Amino acid sequence: MRMPRKKRLAPSILSADFSVLGKQVEEITEAGCDYVHIDVMDGHFVPNISFGAPVMKSLDKCKSAPYDVHLMIEDPDRYIPDFVTENTEFITVHQEACEDLAHTLGHIKSYGVGAGVSVKPGTPVEAIGEAIGLADLVLVMSVEPGFGGQKFMPDMLDKVEELAEIREKNGLDFDIEIDGGIGLDNLALVLEKGVDIAVAGSAVFGAEDLTARVKEFKDLMK
Ligand code: DX5
Ligand code: ZN
Repeated sequence: MRMPRKKRLAPSILSADFSVLGKQVEEITEAGCDYVHIDVMDGHFVPNISFGAPVMKSLDKCKSAPYDVHLMIEDPDRYIPDFVTENTEFITVHQEACEDLAHTLGHIKSYGVGAGVSVKPGTPVEAIGEAIGLADLVLVMSVEPGFGGQKFMPDMLDKVEELAEIREKNGLDFDIEIDGGIGLDNLALVLEKGVDIAVAGSAVFGAEDLTARVKEFKDLMK
């Protein structure tokens, strides 16, 4: 039987105050978050534009937890190298944006970075196909990607359970991550269903006291 994985928190800086981004990243890092979730949107794959690699790389100057990069962009292969730094733990692409997912996951891994694949709410887990064997992380979107602060879609927990089964049955080793609408109210439930890494944007950065909020999340992950 596999050892239970450590449950981890990845606050999304999409909801940060960009006028003091470095300061906030240092604060959540010192409070004990496991990753800093970097939401990259291109205005094509999703109907919103966020920020690109220069903003992420500016955080190299700060004390920052490792980057967990979520590329919500078309033609991800073209931009993957831009997001590789010494502090990049995962780069996740969308299944829907990849013509040859196995190739793209291999491309990410060629830089020594963890390769992730994400599925939008309307995309079944089966769409990942055999490429799942190459993934270090599978990210289940629990809102339509594009915006922070949306309502959690509970039906997406079926995908989490399905992924946990696939992992177990095939002796695979990917982490299961969930992203969208996660807060202190539903964290225990998603962890119980098998989530290893929880992304939280507005629920972390909307708090008055970021340190206290990260600790509240982490306490529920013990
Ligand atoms: C949505 C992003 C998420 C989102 C999380 O497209 O990938 O990371 O911003 O924000 P909350 O936690 O506010 O739903
Ligand atoms: Zn995200």
